[in-house]
Amino acid sequence: MGTVYAVANQKGGVGKTTTAVNLASCAAAAGNQTLLVDLDPQCNATTALGAAADSHPSSYDCLTGDTSVAEAARPAGPDNLWLVPASRDLAGAAVELPRIDGSETRLRDRLGPVRERFEASLLDCPPSLGPVSVNALTAADRVIVPVQAEYLALEGLVQFLETLGLIRRELNPRLEVAGLLITMYDERTRLAQDVEAELRRHFGEMVFETVIPRSVRVAESPSYGLPVTEHAPSSRGAVAYRALATELAARG
Ligand SMILES: Nc1ncnc2c1ncn2[C@@H]1O[C@H](COP(=O)(O)OP(=O)(O)OP(=O)(O)O)[C@@H](O)[C@H]1O
Ligand SMILES: [Mg+2]
Repeated sequence: MGTVYAVANQKGGVGKTTTAVNLASCAAAAGNQTLLVDLDPQCNATTALGAAADSHPSSYDCLTGDTSVAEAARPAGPDNLWLVPASRDLAGAAVELPRIDGSETRLRDRLGPVRERFEASLLDCPPSLGPVSVNALTAADRVIVPVQAEYLALEGLVQFLETLGLIRRELNPRLEVAGLLITMYDERTRLAQDVEAELRRHFGEMVFETVIPRSVRVAESPSYGLPVTEHAPSSRGAVAYRALATELAARG
């Protein structure tokens, strides 16, 4: 049975999409059938893989219609990597979903044979704790929480972890935190070191040992429609994401 990971944090711009795309790419490159599901109306994960935004079937059709996630999956380019693209109408799903009874479990209900077909599925969440993220967290087995090393919003993070606790109690008892991931780390700055020290002090082993460095290669790769692990495979960012994939697999 494959594992479904949500990559989530209600804070914007912390590296969720970059992490989802690159972890998916690493898992696929290691020979695993891998699925990336873009759940953000910004469609950043979709375009980062060079796919067109707003094509259908999309994750919107899975959330609001009868399309199963497995049916909506299409080959994403690299071997073993599949994508369910996002479309801008996902922004409307946040309004439509609450009107549907039991809407929190729609994505989980529509995973269909995804867990049999894909060893790893990554759900790239939007920067909010709205109905779409709740669907992702209800469908997922494990959550990866990227945290930007340049700004510590401990309160926001604690609040997010509390929300995960609520989802675990009410909707998805299986949900576990895979780990907090420090992203955009610039070791030359005191601030990054302080943020890392503070996170490790507060959250201990919940924080991945692997840290993702701030890197121009990581930032530019979406404009090539490629994961950094394909665009610049020997760059520090690519090395870090491969290390993260290994650490994630070792965490079980
Ligand atoms: N390690 C990194 N080094 C340099 N730039 C990075 C790195 N990780 C992410 N970025 C850049 O930072 C910006 C935000 O990253 P990303 O889109 O992954 O965050 P996000 O959490 O998905 O954002 P949103 O909340 O808007 O969905 C992007 O422009 C991305 O290219
Ligand atoms: Mg994003």
